[in-house]
Amino acid sequence: MNALITDHRHSNVNDATIAKLGTRLLSEIIRINQAQTLGYDTDYAFVNIVNDAKLFDEIKELVHAKQRLKPTIMLVVGIGGSNLGTLAIQQALYGLFYNEHDPEIKVYYLDTVDSDYTNDILLLAQQALEKDETVLLNIISKSGTTTESIANFEIFLNLFKSYYEDEYKHYIIVTSDHGSALWQLAQDEQFATLTIPKKLGGRYSVFSAVGLFPLAMIGVDIYQLLRGAQSAIPNALTTDIFENKAALSAAHMYAHYKQQIAIHNFFIFSVDLQGIGAWYRQLMGESIGKAQLRSGEKAAIGILPTTSIGSTDLHSMVQFYLAGPNSTYTTFLSVETNKSDLIIPAQQQFEKIVHNIQDKSLATIMRAILHGAFQAYQEKNRPFSTITLQEKSAYCIGQLLQFKMFEIIYLAALLSISPFDQNEVELYKQATRKILAHE
Ligand code: PA5
Repeated sequence: MNALITDHRHSNVNDATIAKLGTRLLSEIIRINQAQTLGYDTDYAFVNIVNDAKLFDEIKELVHAKQRLKPTIMLVVGIGGSNLGTLAIQQALYGLFYNEHDPEIKVYYLDTVDSDYTNDILLLAQQALEKDETVLLNIISKSGTTTESIANFEIFLNLFKSYYEDEYKHYIIVTSDHGSALWQLAQDEQFATLTIPKKLGGRYSVFSAVGLFPLAMIGVDIYQLLRGAQSAIPNALTTDIFENKAALSAAHMYAHYKQQIAIHNFFIFSVDLQGIGAWYRQLMGESIGKAQLRSGEKAAIGILPTTSIGSTDLHSMVQFYLAGPNSTYTTFLSVETNKSDLIIPAQQQFEKIVHNIQDKSLATIMRAILHGAFQAYQEKNRPFSTITLQEKSAYCIGQLLQFKMFEIIYLAALLSISPFDQNEVELYKQATRKILAHE
């Protein structure tokens, strides 16, 4: 099934430019094609993880074992690539609030070390434990040494030890690199462990145990999610740039970047997909912001990723985007089919307040606003493209995220940079460790 339709008619880049960029991408497409036979022994491991049947079975087995404990709360401790994809998929499929249709297990995400935020979750976990409910914790850290994640983990481990006493090991699942310090601790403590392939970078790891375990725990159909991700691959490896959606999208971004349009705004017309905006912002920010080219030559490369939510941010940012410097290329993302169909009741006294909305569905009004935005962008000659996602199903979301990972890889190839490292992130980590050594 084709889960997404892309449209670049209003991007204002001509076909000759795109064709040239397509030729430049051929070697990268061939490289990824070849990487398909290399399993995890490749920087492009994200392509192969979606076909790992052994991993799928291992996760299913662990999920069954932990679901037997009947948890009501699951704490996901992890930051950046270790939680953004999971949160994005959960929100896309279940929405932002818990209601009776949602899984019985509530998930709380612990990423940063904000004392009040962590304490709020600690109190919720404590309340559940007092009522003899089961709380699980999944700590996810590829390196196994991320300050924030280990700090939060230690606090909750302490809580688990005081409630579960000698049994605490049954309620903790560790996801990390094989052999990391955290993985070693998990072995010593006999916690259940899931491993992340060494060459699979955090921001490309959503379809590994990082995302699959917590998502399967809350009832996400991870089989459909992976099928969706798999379905994006043949198109993403097509050598015809005009057919290859990910390469085409990357080529448009690159062409704008070369014209000094160095901001990319992902304008998402679906509140439930806001997490995908945050996930993509990290994917682009860490993969594309670079201080050197692949050749080692010094450079300062980057497209600033911003995310907006429609129609909310039409009342916030669009004045800047349409009136300010012509420095932003926008991709509008909308969803074709909603899960609900709310209709505004026909009440005559409102007709004179806002015309022509009585008896119309919210989806109709949202569509009118989206197309109104398209017209305003065209009028102001601001470049944009569109992605229409068929529905917010596991399959469609899987296809969308995989398409986006390919897009960023192709964008990096055009920019002659590596999308897999993040050397500058280390700078603050090292500085923090030094500061803490003297606190
Ligand atoms: O994408 C990345 O590599 C980073 O955002 C990491 O995911 C993030 O820094 C967390 O690292 P770790 O999983 O090692 O705790």
